[in-house]
Amino acid sequence: MTDRISIIAPDDWHVHLRDGEMLTQVVPHTAHRFQRAIVMPNLRPPVTSVAAAQAYRERIRLACPADLEFTPLMTAYLTDTIDPSELERGFREGVFAAAKLYPANATTNSAAGVTDLLQIDPVLETMARIGMPLLIHGEVTDAEIDIFDREAVFIERHLAPLRERHPELKVVFEHITTEQAVQYVSSVDRHLAATITPHHLHINRNAMFAGGLRSDFYCLPVAKRECHRQALRRAATSADPRFFLGTDTAPHERASKESSCGCAGIFNAPFALESYAQVFDEEGALAHLEAFTSLNGPEFYNLPVNSGRVILERRDHLVPELVNGLVPFHAGEILSWAVADASDQVQL
Ligand code: NCD
Ligand code: ZN
Repeated sequence: MTDRISIIAPDDWHVHLRDGEMLTQVVPHTAHRFQRAIVMPNLRPPVTSVAAAQAYRERIRLACPADLEFTPLMTAYLTDTIDPSELERGFREGVFAAAKLYPANATTNSAAGVTDLLQIDPVLETMARIGMPLLIHGEVTDAEIDIFDREAVFIERHLAPLRERHPELKVVFEHITTEQAVQYVSSVDRHLAATITPHHLHINRNAMFAGGLRSDFYCLPVAKRECHRQALRRAATSADPRFFLGTDTAPHERASKESSCGCAGIFNAPFALESYAQVFDEEGALAHLEAFTSLNGPEFYNLPVNSGRVILERRDHLVPELVNGLVPFHAGEILSWAVADASDQVQL
């Protein structure tokens, strides 16, 4: 049995680092485990300009412990009216690594998102021309579509037509949750990849209703049936380069989670790497962990692979009920993989 593995230092291709006090609390957790991270732009107000992204990147750097080597990769938030030349300038200047598409009102802080994809075709044309990746929250927002079907419907109504209109555009289908998404991504040979979160590999939709209403397991896209979780597990652990790590860690204050209209999002940054390792171990695929955590993402984004390494070892450890006053994913559970260097535990 493998009890210890060494992997190239991983990156997180989808994080919400928030702002203000929350930013200070959560950045160390991501910076501690991941060398780079794609930072989501859904602040209030959203990050829609080069100047806003530069200022946010500076706040992230200030919040990052000085002894950690961590590079935040910034994204632009697409709106109906965003100027393609602003995106192009940001990309060429190395400020924007990508742009994020939120269908308007699909999720947290997405009210300013895109209402009609056809309207932003000039933006997508520019992105395709300069090689700037489009990161997509792939859910339709129509209230009459069942919430568990919104991702699958998005593929046929929006994603497939969008990719037909812009075959050269690089697209990441973010935090996929369904068998249909796995099949769609697997059927495309170039310019399309997908991130997969730790929570969608661990829980199915029953987790939200186990013995009562458990808002800590509520996120968007919402967890689906068990067959979908199994499809995600097969995809993540397959070493297929089209699938890579993106935690979608999305912290919310407890009061905002535990309310009559609670926020969507799971705070998984503190133990995300351990959480993925456990899945790969359970699937007998530890040999493929490094491809998912550290190789496939850089390849898609055309970035060098990190030079550092991380050692993971089989060691039971209890996940605390709270981290910085926030409920972490796996709270109160025992995880069986840990990062080897005990000195690198984040102060809880
Ligand atoms: C995210 C958030 O809170 O910003 N929430 C979530 O459930 N994943 C937004 C998002 O990625 O959908
Ligand atoms: Zn997200």
